[in-house]
Amino acid sequence: MINVDLLITNIRRLVTCAAPDGPLRGAPFGSASSLEEAALAIAGGRLVAVGASAELSGQYRAAQSLDGAGLVAIPGFVDPHTHCCYAGDRADEFALRIAGATYQELMAAGGGIMASVRATRAASVAELVAQTRPRLDRMLAHGTTTVEIKTGYGLTTEHELAMLEAIAQLERSHPLSIVPTFIGAHAIPAEYRGNAAGYTQLVIDEMLPAVARWWAGQDVWREALACDVFCEEGAFDLAQSRLILARARELGFATKLHVDEFAPLGGTPLAVELGALSADHLVATPPDHIALLAQSPTVAVALPGTPFGLGHHEFTPARAIVAAGGALALATDCNPGTSICESMPFIIALACRYLRLTPTEALHAATINAAYALGRAAEVGSLAVGKRADVALLALPSEQHLGYRFGTNPVALVVKDGKVVVDRRRG
Ligand code: NIG
Ligand code: FE
Repeated sequence: MINVDLLITNIRRLVTCAAPDGPLRGAPFGSASSLEEAALAIAGGRLVAVGASAELSGQYRAAQSLDGAGLVAIPGFVDPHTHCCYAGDRADEFALRIAGATYQELMAAGGGIMASVRATRAASVAELVAQTRPRLDRMLAHGTTTVEIKTGYGLTTEHELAMLEAIAQLERSHPLSIVPTFIGAHAIPAEYRGNAAGYTQLVIDEMLPAVARWWAGQDVWREALACDVFCEEGAFDLAQSRLILARARELGFATKLHVDEFAPLGGTPLAVELGALSADHLVATPPDHIALLAQSPTVAVALPGTPFGLGHHEFTPARAIVAAGGALALATDCNPGTSICESMPFIIALACRYLRLTPTEALHAATINAAYALGRAAEVGSLAVGKRADVALLALPSEQHLGYRFGTNPVALVVKDGKVVVDRRRG
């Protein structure tokens, strides 16, 4: 018998979401690799065996056992695009939008992202941590075990670094694994109104080098930090996005890009040209840009909570992306303006209806493909031996019920790095 820390036995069904050679595309994206009556053995926070319950029960002696009877085991969700570190809220703007104001009108009038920037600049690092923590608690309760968090509500070197500091404190003190992304180019701050070129230069000359220095001096993360840009009308145009990301690459950053959320500015070909980890939003993307993206290693990240949150009716053309051979991932985009949603199961429910993904495709998009979109697929995103033991156990008959059922939380248990961190079996 081999000693392990935790053995989860009698799991009704287990979906591995395994994809060791790159994100899932085409037919494998839609077909689940699964086991019935399965077990997971965990030691040192890692998966040491994934197999038949009868077999593993005879091979491993565990300090702690969990009964997975009636539950479906999946990898913990990976949420690869959020802006969930911010102060305050924008419920007042929601009321204005219900009354007919558009997101872009609110942004042009100095609200939108800038409203959250004012609140975030006024908050201390401790306040920012305190306001963000319950959001991470709710994500974890909904089965997310890895989350990306962007900066972008500071928009000065000092305040962007304060956001990174808050995110680092959360990574040290919260069970969720956090992947930070720097997006100093999230909006043109009020001080630079009418001077997008001047702010672009500030990001290039001052912020990127300062953030690179901060990154080199921290001891929380080992991987490269990603730099993102909001390439959009009213934010950064294509030339400015290119300048910022080119400089970022020179300084050793990985790259990501917000593209085609409202207007197609050509951000998608730029993401492909730069070898970006992901191109995100992709709502107004022209068909030839979809084809280009689909043939590249860059992951397409769809954020259906955003059009839904805005009450819009146009979504990412996910079927076209999949048909062209693209790698598709899903994220909440959790932010106080367009998508104040912390639940990947709800995003899957939206994706099945409005992106026409099957539950299996949506599950793969919310786990292993999302891990590739963050450059973390060697560590998380599938139930594979050697990876972090991040598991969500769902109180559902099968993964086919994910997305079908919506509005309630299907998660019974969450295991993070081999420890039970959420237990909702009694309610
Ligand atoms: O992804 N597009 C830019 N950023 C967010 C919105 C952030 C906000 O409104 O605060 C997004 O939709
Ligand atoms: Fe975003």
